[in-house]
Amino acid sequence: MATISQTAVVSGAASGIGAAVRKQFLEAGMRVIGVDLRASDVCADLSTASGRRAAVASVLALAGGPIDQLVCCAGLGPQVEPVARIAAVNYFGVVALLDGLFDALKAARHSSAIVLSSSSATLQSWAGSPLRDAYLAGDEALVGQILAAVPPEQAGYAAYASSKNAVAVAVRQRAVGWGAARVRLNAIAPGAVQTPLLEAGLNDPRYGAAIRSLVAPIGARARPEDVAALVGFVAGASAAFIHGSVLIVDGGIDAATRPFDF
Ligand SMILES: NC(=O)c1ccc[n+]([C@@H]2O[C@H](COP(=O)([O-])OP(=O)(O)OC[C@H]3O[C@@H](n4cnc5c(N)ncnc54)[C@H](O)[C@@H]3O)[C@@H](O)[C@H]2O)c1
Repeated sequence: MATISQTAVVSGAASGIGAAVRKQFLEAGMRVIGVDLRASDVCADLSTASGRRAAVASVLALAGGPIDQLVCCAGLGPQVEPVARIAAVNYFGVVALLDGLFDALKAARHSSAIVLSSSSATLQSWAGSPLRDAYLAGDEALVGQILAAVPPEQAGYAAYASSKNAVAVAVRQRAVGWGAARVRLNAIAPGAVQTPLLEAGLNDPRYGAAIRSLVAPIGARARPEDVAALVGFVAGASAAFIHGSVLIVDGGIDAATRPFDF
């Protein structure tokens, strides 16, 4: 009997972690629909509402039915300006794909969605932040306004860490509804991964030293394939009970920086 191949959607598929996930899924025999600004099956700008709508519509048209896997890797680092764009891609672009593709994920038998958070999300206070309420309200304009008032040397980091915190919360908020629909949803929070995004941060005079100072106890930076390996496991049948989780893959940085907070 012929096996029906799974359909996977990977945003940020043109570079870094997304490219490694795409390659791994293709090698596993899946049909992969990549989404990125360029050089992908679906070329769309996830920083804008119209780009997100176009991305969802094109993905659904290309999939032509159920979607088995969704991995949201598209993201921008703290050095990008204007900083509102960081929140726009890292949070609003992610939830637009999650919610826009939910019905197609629900239509598959054992589907999974994974979003990329970051271990840096734990380094900034989320409780009590005005950004928290703005994200939770889905108020993209207000998130932009609050970020515009942050001193410029901290604004990129505030946008990055808060957006990565917000996507982890978005996963946890959806755990009940998505669980009832039998769609597993998880976040993966990497530490430093050797990609163009990390390289751009290291080369930025505002953030380079801080990023360099976060040395993983395991003694190295991750390769994109190291994160893709965890994505592959979480997406697979062996991870059938992993749902609503935020899985840190950072070589021990989080444990080293806040050993007593858990
Ligand atoms: N590299 C790290 O150290 C690290 C650490 C923690 C989390 N992450 C997260 O992992 C994810 C992947 O990052 P990476 O390091 O592979 O980065 P990368 O820069 O190599 O890849 C990111 C991809 O996202 C795409 N993208 C950016 N803006 C977009 C937009 N507006 N619309 C569509 N696509 C867009 C880029 O074109 C690129 O192909 C990101 O969400 C990032 O925040 C990375």
